[in-house]
Amino acid sequence: MALIFPKWTNDIPRMGAPLIALLGGFTVFAVWYWMSPLHTDVGYAPQQPIPYSHKLHAGELGLDCRYCHNNVERSPNAGVPPTQTCMNCHKQVKVGSPRLQLLRDSWGDGTLAKDGGPIPWKRVHKVSDYAYFTHSAHTAIVHKGVAIGCKTCHGRVDEMVVVHQVEPLSMSWCLDCHNNPGPNLRPIAELTNMTWEPDAAWLQKAAEIALDLEPPGNKHARTTLPDGQVIVRSTAGCTGCHR
Ligand code: HEC
Ligand code: HEC
Ligand code: HEC
Ligand code: HEC
Ligand code: HEC
Repeated sequence: MALIFPKWTNDIPRMGAPLIALLGGFTVFAVWYWMSPLHTDVGYAPQQPIPYSHKLHAGELGLDCRYCHNNVERSPNAGVPPTQTCMNCHKQVKVGSPRLQLLRDSWGDGTLAKDGGPIPWKRVHKVSDYAYFTHSAHTAIVHKGVAIGCKTCHGRVDEMVVVHQVEPLSMSWCLDCHNNPGPNLRPIAELTNMTWEPDAAWLQKAAEIALDLEPPGNKHARTTLPDGQVIVRSTAGCTGCHR
């Protein structure tokens, strides 16, 4: 009778183990390497087409972040301002500056027909498309009157000549806060304040508020049942961020 399996197949289990180990190792490497693109790294600070300085505009001139990032409390994206926002001032200020040539080209004569198109700002912060992030859930936790400040996630932008990334934006970074948001909460009124610090009384109040929040992955969220009983439970797992 013919052999159903040729003899060499007896060796597969022996060859298989290292092969599987190798493939497994490669998969881990691949996920780690290709799924963590360089541009999400701490310190990433690409050269921008116009030498725009947050230190000057948000720091010295004291412009509020929302003057330019005006969707940050309402939408997933904070967005970068259109040329119009810059021209509110630069129609009068530094009109001849060569450093603003690209801005003037983009503006043209201010009509859609004759402008040079939007300024090609380079993106600094980017979470991979397979994870969902939204600003408004963090910047306007309206039902509790609290927020996570811009500084908590972006650092002292008002001191940066060139914006760079200060936090890893990795899954563990998100989850560290989601599991214990209390110390990072602040009153909504202090959203864009770069120098605000909590005092002891606030920290105590914030710890209490944090129990009622529901960030995905939180293991200590509190629910009050209709009969008044309070239970502690976990919030949405992976699907809260991987939708
Ligand atoms: C006068 C307008 C203006 C103001 C005010 C302003 N920004 Fe910006 N912001 C910009 C522009 C233009 C860019 C894109 C160019 C760059 O990255 O420097 C930008 C980029 C950023 C980025 C990086 C975006 C990315 O690509 O990841 C962050 C973070 C940021 N701003 C935060 C802030 C914070 C926080 C404040 C308040 C302290 C603030 N900005 C105030 C205009 C402004
Ligand atoms: C509220 C007014 C205001 C707005 C809005 C504003 N700027 Fe400015 N900008 C200034 C002032 C004031 C200076 C400093 C002028 C000086 O040094 O005397 C300046 C300086 C600059 C300079 C340095 C110019 C040089 O020759 O040194 C650049 C570049 C610049 N701004 C880019 C921008 C861009 C890009 C935007 C829009 C994202 C913007 N500004 C929005 C007021 C503004
Ligand atoms: C909880 C953390 C967190 C807070 C708070 C936060 N950001 Fe962000 N920000 C991020 C992350 C993460 C990204 C990258 C988002 C992405 O890739 O979709 C980002 C991206 C940005 C960008 C780039 C453009 C965009 O919309 O993706 C700007 C500008 C910005 N943030 C400004 C601000 C300002 C201004 C504030 C305060 C009003 C703020 N952020 C508060 C985490 C935060
Ligand atoms: C410094 C604290 C902090 C960091 C960092 C943070 N979050 Fe959150 N996040 C919160 C809090 C607090 C809430 C809950 C708000 C509520 O219950 O209303 C939340 C809510 C959310 C929600 C729920 C939004 C909704 O519509 O239900 C998502 C999604 C989310 N975060 C994603 C992320 C991701 C992805 C990251 C990392 C890139 C991240 N967060 C980083 C504090 C944080
Ligand atoms: C708070 C939001 C959040 C939750 C909850 C969450 N993730 Fe993630 N996850 C992220 C972010 C952010 C990244 C990194 C995105 C990037 O690198 O740009 C990520 C990356 C990943 C990756 C890619 C590998 C890596 O480490 O970069 C895998 C796999 C993953 N998550 C699986 C899960 C699983 C399984 C769960 C449930 C146990 C989960 N995630 C829950 C936000 C979350």
